[in-house]
Amino acid sequence: MSFEPPSFAKINWTLEILGRRADGYHELRTILQTVDVCDQMQFVAAESNIALTCDNPAVPCDATNLIYRAAVLLQELTGCDKGAKIHLQKRIPMGAGLGGGSGNAAVALLALTQLWELDVAPRDLFRLGSQLGSDVPFFFFGGTGIGIGRGDEVYPMADITAEYLLLVNPGVHVPTREIYGNLPSELTSTPAVNKMPFSLEAAYARMRGTRWNLRNDLERPALALYPLIGQVKERLRELQAAAVLMSGSGATVFAVFESEAARAQAQQALSETGWWCATTRTLSRSEYQAALTRISDFRFRISD
Ligand code: C5P
Repeated sequence: MSFEPPSFAKINWTLEILGRRADGYHELRTILQTVDVCDQMQFVAAESNIALTCDNPAVPCDATNLIYRAAVLLQELTGCDKGAKIHLQKRIPMGAGLGGGSGNAAVALLALTQLWELDVAPRDLFRLGSQLGSDVPFFFFGGTGIGIGRGDEVYPMADITAEYLLLVNPGVHVPTREIYGNLPSELTSTPAVNKMPFSLEAAYARMRGTRWNLRNDLERPALALYPLIGQVKERLRELQAAAVLMSGSGATVFAVFESEAARAQAQQALSETGWWCATTRTLSRSEYQAALTRISDFRFRISD
């Protein structure tokens, strides 16, 4: 048996820091969104052992890789001793705020559950996912979702649509931990109160009223430490983007354009910079789930 699922990227429409938690993490509220840029993965059943390969030599394929760790956690949980050959075609820039590694881990958990014919309760998969990384659980269902807690407690929201997105990464590698460690004190000195329940409609309206109103609290430390990210934002604004924001802990910046022509013009203007640049669009939850049908078995259907 084998599966060849895509593994999509995400952006954060908003990311608010609500305070610092006792466990050292930050309590946050973020609106996540899958986009149609993806890695390609392949899972082939094997007698024993996990063998991971990748077309990009910069990707570590040892026990530190999130895909590998996902496989091991699943084996430990279930006592399964089957193996798999896993191949990753890396297209999403790494350490870039696009959730590439997190998406890979979530897809690996889903695919291996199917491949090894395991019966794992959704809550157990969510637990394994959040153990692997704060963004992992979101990739079990995709589309538009709100994340609270460490960002790992996720709830689906009505899909937000943007056709003409441009992702730009100036090649800066931003360590997530460093960004969280340099947040302004007014964001971290408040007790980390979990502000749920709140209205999803209100969150949506605040962000998408008559114009885009996007916010990412991680931008301040990221732009202070890596001014090039600010230059990317500035350039995209000059190029008539309707909204521009850094995704996650950066360094990728996404821009929303109002037409294909405006986006094409911006992409053309940026072609001399050497920055990684990708056109994309939002991927709705049903599109995301359709792309993962074979491996997800719809066990994470939102209405369940
Ligand atoms: O959960 P994940 O492995 O993606 O987090 C990477 C790092 O980002 C953590 O080690 C922590 O320093 C920081 N972080 C945080 N608060 C969060 C999420 C991440 O401080 N809610």
